Amino acid sequence: MCGITGYIGCKQATPELLRALKKLEYRGYDSAGIAVLNGSRITVRKMKGALGVLERKIAEEAIPGTLGIGHTRWATHGEPSDTNAHPHTNLSGNIAVIHNGIIENYGVLKEWLQARGVVFRSQTDTEVIVHLIDFYYNAAAIAPIGIPGTDLFLRAVLEALGRIEGSYGLAVIARDFPDRIIAARKDSPLIVGLGDGENLLASDVPALLDHTREVYYLGEREVAVLYRDHVDLFTDQGERVIRPSSHVDWDAQAAEKGGYAHFMLKEIHEQPRAFTDTLRPRLKIADGTPDINFDEIGLDASWADAPRIVITACGTAWHAGMVGKYAFEHFARIPVETDIASEYRYRNPVFNPRDLFIVISQSGETADTLAAMRLAKQKGARILAITNAVGSTLARESDLVLYTWAGPEIGVASTKAFTTQLMCVYLLALKLARLRGLLDGRAYRDALTSLQAIPAQAQKILENTAAIQRFAAGHFNKGKVFFIGRQFDYAVSLESALKLKEISYTHSEAFAAGELKHGPIALVDRDTLVVALATQTALFDKIASNIQETAARGAASLVITWEGEHRFDKIAGEIFTIPRTDDPFSPLLSIIPAQLFAYYCAVLRGNDPDKPRNLAKSVTVE
Ligand code: F6R
Repeated sequence: MCGITGYIGCKQATPELLRALKKLEYRGYDSAGIAVLNGSRITVRKMKGALGVLERKIAEEAIPGTLGIGHTRWATHGEPSDTNAHPHTNLSGNIAVIHNGIIENYGVLKEWLQARGVVFRSQTDTEVIVHLIDFYYNAAAIAPIGIPGTDLFLRAVLEALGRIEGSYGLAVIARDFPDRIIAARKDSPLIVGLGDGENLLASDVPALLDHTREVYYLGEREVAVLYRDHVDLFTDQGERVIRPSSHVDWDAQAAEKGGYAHFMLKEIHEQPRAFTDTLRPRLKIADGTPDINFDEIGLDASWADAPRIVITACGTAWHAGMVGKYAFEHFARIPVETDIASEYRYRNPVFNPRDLFIVISQSGETADTLAAMRLAKQKGARILAITNAVGSTLARESDLVLYTWAGPEIGVASTKAFTTQLMCVYLLALKLARLRGLLDGRAYRDALTSLQAIPAQAQKILENTAAIQRFAAGHFNKGKVFFIGRQFDYAVSLESALKLKEISYTHSEAFAAGELKHGPIALVDRDTLVVALATQTALFDKIASNIQETAARGAASLVITWEGEHRFDKIAGEIFTIPRTDDPFSPLLSIIPAQLFAYYCAVLRGNDPDKPRNLAKSVTVE
């Protein structure tokens, strides 16, 4: 995943591009670059390393110009280097391109171009794009080709797009057309910001909010031509597209750190508010009784008759799907299959068109998740998406969309997006249970009352971060950390272990606690910390035995359990308690101390939790 941006207006482009890239840096940070068009020439500056390296270089020598494009890279083809950094230019330097995505047929295209005398300078797949555009630009200049009614520059871009297989969000500038930027997308997000006397381009909304909240979310295979005073939209066949813009509700402040040391910490602390935002629009009080209102997705009784629910997602979102498995089965008594999207897409799955297919994705742009969703759609499934990203590919291609309303999540490690995904899952499970006649009025009301208490209970946990900080200080150097739990607690263990490994680089694993004795317990020694999630009252004795088994082999332990619960006092090394809610809703709260533990361990180990090594926020390539 990479971040791309563009600016055309009356201000100097360089500071605008750098400001936008700062907001997009979470999308990739192994190199960065900009290209600015100043009347008669395109100036490119690009450097290996974080954005700061480029900023220092540019500070030495300003680049004038009011039109430009910028890129922050997360390498896929070709190692991070100055040469492989974007923008890429054609040989004469009069066309520059930035790109996010993967050109799958770049090998064939490269050979084709080389046979025509093109000399490649980088190892990137992106470089074929600029040479293809150059090729068609020159060909069209000699004899008009391709799509009529478009100018030479647009025609050349459209011809090049016609040759490309794979995914792209890209932007192109040409020296001979100093009044425009051309942008295009396929399977990779790209948003046009509509300003006053200026127009902008970015991979994600926060990079636009300093300028505007009016946007076009570019659609699949859509092309935008940005001028200072207007934007034209086309299909990739050159046909005009006329449609209204969208309004973004987030403000610029919501996309900033707001005084926290890191976005991740800020986002952990935003969870009470995010819970409320997810819940409030869906909870309606009729005759003094709360009800879940899903008018927004038109969920009707036919969905409740689904013989099976299939959930696919990746990473943290898959863990939300694991909680979903327990929640839908517990409340709605519908069998659930939860699968990793990258497995599902290649599995030749057995399929019933009456199944309810749920796809969970924060970004709505994860390549494997989209592929799984498209496979299910092809087979006739009804798709319900749970996503945080309005206008994302997932949102557009699904039958129904349930937005998590977590607000922008910038930290690479997902926190508030996960817990709001859980909230959506619980609301759905309760609604389906009610539609299926499985919850009487009182049980339904009690469950909704419990959910309404969650924001305040989450806040209470966040007021006790010092206890987790102390615990992290005692254990951040452990060689191994194992999270164990049963049922809902197992799903939370999976997410807790992922959080810790991805930002602290500690070897951490999750085990269904009953599985320990079938192998993993061989790993337990004095260098092991066991974090036991213990919120499922009916299974207290079982998890207590597992804690004792690991303690007997020298492991230190932390038990996360309910306030006022003393079952673990004598066997736990340390205990962290969370406010009591109904056992099935425990993941909404029990994950919060685990998120904080991961965060503090990462900081104590000297890592930047917002920029974990080798990771990107949204994996838009396979
Ligand atoms: C981990 C994390 C990832 C994502 C995964 C799916 O903290 O964020 O595991 O959950 O890459 O991303 P989305 O939800 O955007 O599809």
